[in-house]
This record gives sequence, C-alpha cells and structure tokens, in this order.
Amino acid sequence: MSIENEIEQLSEQLESYNYQYYVLDNPSVPDAEYDRVFQKLLALETNTEGHPLPSSPTQKVGGVALSKFEQVTHEIPMLSLDNVFEAQALKDFMKRAQDKSTSAEIEFCIEPKLDGLAASIIYENGVLVQAATRGDGQTGENVTENVKTIKNIPLKLRGENIPARLEVRGEVFMLKAGFAKLNKKLMDAGEKPFVNPRNAAAGSLRQLDSKIAASRPLAFYCYAVGVFDGELADSQFARIEQLRGWGLPVSEEVKRVSGEQACLEYYQSITVKRPNLAYEIDGVVYKVDNIALQQKLGFVARAPRWATAFKFPAEEAITTVENVEFQVGRTGAITPVAKLKPVFVGGVTVSNATLHNKDEISRLGILVGDSVVVRRAGDVIPQVARVILEKRDAEKCKAIVFPARCPVCDSEVERIEGEATIRCSGGLFCGAQRKEAIKHFASRKALDIDGLGNKLVELLVDHSLIKSPAQLFNLTATQVSSLPRMGDVSAKKLINSLQLSKKTTLARFLYSLGIREVGEATANNLANYYKNIDALKDASVENLQSVSDVGEIVAKHIYYFFRQEHNIEVVNQLLDAGIHWPEIKTASQSELSLTGQIFVITGSFTRLTRAEIKTALQDKGAKVAGSVSKKTTTVIAGEAAGSKLTKAQELGIAIMDEDALMNLLNNL
Ligand code: IVH
Repeated sequence: MSIENEIEQLSEQLESYNYQYYVLDNPSVPDAEYDRVFQKLLALETNTEGHPLPSSPTQKVGGVALSKFEQVTHEIPMLSLDNVFEAQALKDFMKRAQDKSTSAEIEFCIEPKLDGLAASIIYENGVLVQAATRGDGQTGENVTENVKTIKNIPLKLRGENIPARLEVRGEVFMLKAGFAKLNKKLMDAGEKPFVNPRNAAAGSLRQLDSKIAASRPLAFYCYAVGVFDGELADSQFARIEQLRGWGLPVSEEVKRVSGEQACLEYYQSITVKRPNLAYEIDGVVYKVDNIALQQKLGFVARAPRWATAFKFPAEEAITTVENVEFQVGRTGAITPVAKLKPVFVGGVTVSNATLHNKDEISRLGILVGDSVVVRRAGDVIPQVARVILEKRDAEKCKAIVFPARCPVCDSEVERIEGEATIRCSGGLFCGAQRKEAIKHFASRKALDIDGLGNKLVELLVDHSLIKSPAQLFNLTATQVSSLPRMGDVSAKKLINSLQLSKKTTLARFLYSLGIREVGEATANNLANYYKNIDALKDASVENLQSVSDVGEIVAKHIYYFFRQEHNIEVVNQLLDAGIHWPEIKTASQSELSLTGQIFVITGSFTRLTRAEIKTALQDKGAKVAGSVSKKTTTVIAGEAAGSKLTKAQELGIAIMDEDALMNLLNNL
C-alpha cells in the first residue's frame, strides 16, 4: 500500500472513532486503540514530504499561535432572535405565523436555546475550510484553527449528497462538567476562574493559540444552514436531520411539533430537564418548520419573523440591600435576612434573601446599603451571590450588627464558641419559638394531630388561645369555631383528634418536645434505652452518651433541656393533660448486662449482619461506637478486619471473633 493510501485509511479510521465518540456519544474502541492509530498516522505524516491534509484528524490538536484574527464577512448576515418572556407573547408570535399559512395548524421546529456563542463553519466538498464567529452579524473573526480543535466538529463530512459548499451555523458552548473542571484547573494555577460556561466558551474560542483552545472542553451543536450549493430539505427539522446525517452534531432535544399546546408543553418539560442537561440553555427557540412559509414571513430589522426565543427568566439580578433583619426559628436560631429592594429574578419577585450566619456575611463582605447580585435558580431559595464592590457608596453603607437580645422576646442571645449561629435563650417563652414549637409538636412524626396545620397553630397563638403545647388540650370547640374560617364541624374534628393524639409512644413524645438535635431516630434510641421519661430526665451527660448515636453535644442539649424549669413545667403539663403511651417493658438486670460497655464492630460476619450485631448489643445495654479509642471495651472483629483491629491490638483492647460473640449473645 502506498503511504498516501495508508494515510487515507488511518484518517478514515480516526474520523470514524471521533464520530462515534463525540457525535454519537458511543465510543467504539478503547482510548489506547485511538492513540495507537493516531500516533501511527502522525508518524507517517511527519515522514512524508509536504504538509498533512488540513482535514487530517491530526489537525484537531491545534497548531501555531496567531498574532491576530482575520476578519470574515458573512455572505449571508448572521441574524439574532427576538425574545419573548411569557406564554402570551409566544402565542402572539404563533398567531402571526399561522395567519400567513393556509394549513390548519402549522408545525414548529423547537430547539433548546444554547447558551454559548454563534459560529459559522463552511465546508467545501465536505471538508472544513473556514470557521468564523458571528461578530456584529456582518463581519466576524476567522477562528478556523480553534474551531478545528473542537472535539465534536468533523473536519470532513460523511454520507451522501453533501452540497459542494455548505455553511452550517450553530452554537459553540462548554459542557457544565468541563466548565467546572476548567475552573478548578485555573484556580489551582492561581488564575481567575470564568463566571459562567458562556464566558468560558467565548474566552476559549478567542484564544490566539489554538493549542490552548484545544485544551478547553468546547462543544458545538448546529442549528441552521447559511449558504449552500445544491438542494436541501424543505423544512428546518428535516435540514437538521440532514446535518446530523452528514456527521454534524445536533442537540438531542430538537423536536418537531404542531400547534400552540405542544409548544408550551415542550417549554414545561425542558424546564424540568434543564438542571440535568449536560450544557447550559437559556430558553427555547421556536422556528416555523416549513422553509417556504419562513420565506413568506421574512425578516424585520435584525431578526426573522419565523423564529422567536422564549427565554427562561433570568436567574441573577442586581438590587440593593435596604436592611438586615433577624429571624428567630423553632430552635431559637437567629438568622440574618437581607431585606432587598424588590427585584424580579428566576420568575418571581424577591425581596428577602437569607444571609445564613456570620460566616456567610464575612464571606460575602456585605454591608447594609450594598448593591448585590441575587440568584434564584429553579425553586431554590434566593441567595445573595456576591457584592458589587464597584457600586459601594462607603458613606451610605453600614455594617451588619448582630443583636445582643432576641428581637422577638428580648431574652439574651446565646453564642456558642466555634458555632456560626447565634440563638435566643428564651425557649418556649419566645413568641417565635412558641409557634414553631407547637407546629413541631403537632406535626406528623410527632403527636400527629390531624387537622392542626401550621396556619391554624398561628391563628390559635395570634388569638391568644394557646401559649404552649399543653394548652392545646384545654381548647374547647366553641373557642376554635370562633376563629376565622373555622366552622363547627372542623372545630369538633380538631377537638376529637386532640383527644386521639393523647395516646402516643414515648419516642414520639420525646421527638415532639423539639429538643435540639433530637430527631426521630435519636428519640427512638432514647425511648428504647430509658423506657420512661423520669429516667431520661435524671440522666447525666455521661450516661446519655451510652445511648446509641448520642455524642457529647446531643447529650448536653438533652441534659440542658431538662434542667430548664419552664421545660419541666411543659412536660408535666402535657402529662397532666393526659398524654400517655404503652409501657415499655423494663429489662431485668441480667438482660442489661452490657450496660456501660462500648463495642466497636469491624470486618464481615457470616451468621449476623453488622446491623443485627449492633442491635443485639444495644439491646443488652451496650453502646456501639464507630471508631476505636481508649474507651472501647471490646472490638468484635469479623473476616478481613483492618485498621480498627490493628488499633485495638495496639491499645490492648479485648478482641472477640464471631464465635466468641455468638457465645456472649447466647449466654447473656
Ligand atoms: S437561530 C435567524 N437557534 O441565540 C436565527 N439561535 O439570539 C438565528 N442560539 O446568535 C439564530 N441556540 O447564538 C438559533 N437553536 C438555536 C439557538 C440560537 C442558541 C443563539 C445564537 C444567536 C442567538 C440569537
């Protein structure tokens, strides 16, 4: 075989690998095989006289750096799109298109609006000869060398009936994952990261050194044809399919639908898909599908009448911080909230954004009076993304001062060393905590009081009918039915479900008290361990730590809770109101023979799972810890036990194998 033939054959092989990998997203050979063929081709090309072909797969890695980009005049201007932001404007657009048509319902080609930058690529006889940016629409920059390095762009088209000359237009963009990696790399190298994938794509495409462009994770999707010689299909969708057939990359999300309803449904469904797409999109483009109808509709100014973009609401907007207020939550946590000049962002008007805590405030470096970027993506709570320091008027800005007393009940504020959050110490006395405490008390996983939702709790407290959870049980139907929007029937129902809720379990009751850090699971463990409320009330911090999953901090919260007189009062009132639960059988001394012992389980076992061993030990009163320390009593070591076993040996801690464990459990 002649060298020329061999070069041709290897090139074809690599083109096919590239196509499978980058366009079809379906790799056909391992990377090593690709590299092998690539190196072989490279070696042949360097050994031959003359230059490698401009369309050779070896040309995809970038070459010499340019000193500047040449200008390119677009033979057909590159237009932009009109934007609409609401369903009605989209319907108006469709109606105008429909009015020019004779068919009952016209078809639309719907495409995601890719968030990158437009580019034009010209193929002559199927070979990529020129690529340019959109520029001002008339003239752009010649970025051929960079575009050739974009992985999913073929240097040569494949298939049949390729026009002798074909200009494809589309969007150069960066995949979200590639963007994150690139930014990490830039930051690791002490360089400034890009603000978003769009800027990163633009910055990368405009690199004079195509080797740098080649190293950037750029991608391209076609969405239109510019100039062409010969015949093309007569609809946008069919043209897109033709481009796909010639090996050009096209978004998977392009669809053809007819009628308004289907267009709006597409918008809804892509909104849901959006966070999971591999690339950023900022809206949906609706194009009249039929090319003849497109021509009939024509253009206005710089945009076609046959296409429009339905943009997603902007996710970032600029506004000012007018004030910072402090909100008190159920556990007394005091959260700073920025009061913003109302601004429309992410589809809603936003006037509050949480600032979380002191750490977040220092991170943002935010002052009252600052101009800030507010971000709301999807259903996410609005956040202050950053402060615009350039806009700061130092004279008008004020530092954010944390309150020394609770803004709701004026109790002292607790500051815990090393914790960013501050808390009100007022407990159930604090109006803010009171409402939340009662809501929590009534919630599904707590006493599960049917018909007592958050709104009703607020009404009851606001109308001074109750001040504490215990007072719920003194309510009468007459009192409840006097509240706005409460009839006799619902009032009676509530009284009835309050009665029913009195029969509960100790675990639910403990959970309902809203002790800090005591969730459902911990409440369960506490109930199983102490079996009755008095034993728990009297437990020491140390003893509490024998309960599974209770560490020092949680133990302190529980201990502290039962040392507050008003909390004891609430517990007693609740018990007096008739809350009760089935007695939990108290284990005899012999059953609790492992009390005070701390076990660590490591390795794998044949007769019991680790979870079963854990429960069995806990049932006997033992505590099961996750790591070995001096406090550990015994390490249960199964098959393939590793570092925990070694550590136990080093510390001289008793070690038990599976047999010994079974013996222990069976004989206790
Ligand atoms: S068609 C004559 N289709 O949006 C129509 N544009 O605002 C020209 N864009 O400059 C554009 N995705 O950069 C079209 N599927 C899509 C698009 C799209 C993104 C960008 C493109 C254009 C801008 C117009």
